[in-house]
Amino acid sequence: MKDIVITSQLTVFETIQELPEDVQNLMEKAIEVRKSAYAPYSKFRVGAAILLDNGEVVLGSNQENAAYPSGLCAERVAIFQAGAIYPEAKILKIAITAASDNSCTDTPVPPCGSCRQSIAEYETRQETPIEIYFMGEIGAIHKSASLRNLLPFIFEKKLL
Ligand code: THU
Repeated sequence: MKDIVITSQLTVFETIQELPEDVQNLMEKAIEVRKSAYAPYSKFRVGAAILLDNGEVVLGSNQENAAYPSGLCAERVAIFQAGAIYPEAKILKIAITAASDNSCTDTPVPPCGSCRQSIAEYETRQETPIEIYFMGEIGAIHKSASLRNLLPFIFEKKLL
């Protein structure tokens, strides 16, 4: 018998100004698109901005539905859009921000499990890491150097 230990590492930036300039711009775009969230049920608005290696930025916000499970998270709206419009481009970075209409979210909000699984597919496919930056409405930003770092014991196509 043996244990398998996987460690995860995050880098903490205290403010947006501490981020590299391209990531600051990306996070500003995520903050802007967050306003387009359709979140009448949860009142929880999420924005995601994806930087591709062709220089394009693809955006997404969460889109809810009266049939709750039919809604979709911001990260998947963005990443599926990137895959559909620029199928040949590699995803370099994703910036994510979340804000509630009910209270001020000051803790970084990481992508949910389903979004991690969806992003994992693209990271595996392109064979290069995707940097993920996430924050709440205010406060610190957390950076994960890859999706794999956020999703240990990953389920991916080589297992099929
Ligand atoms: N949501 C996202 O957009 N991304 C996540 O990673 C977590 C949750 C959305 C889904 C739903 O519209 C609302 O936030 C509350 O769960």
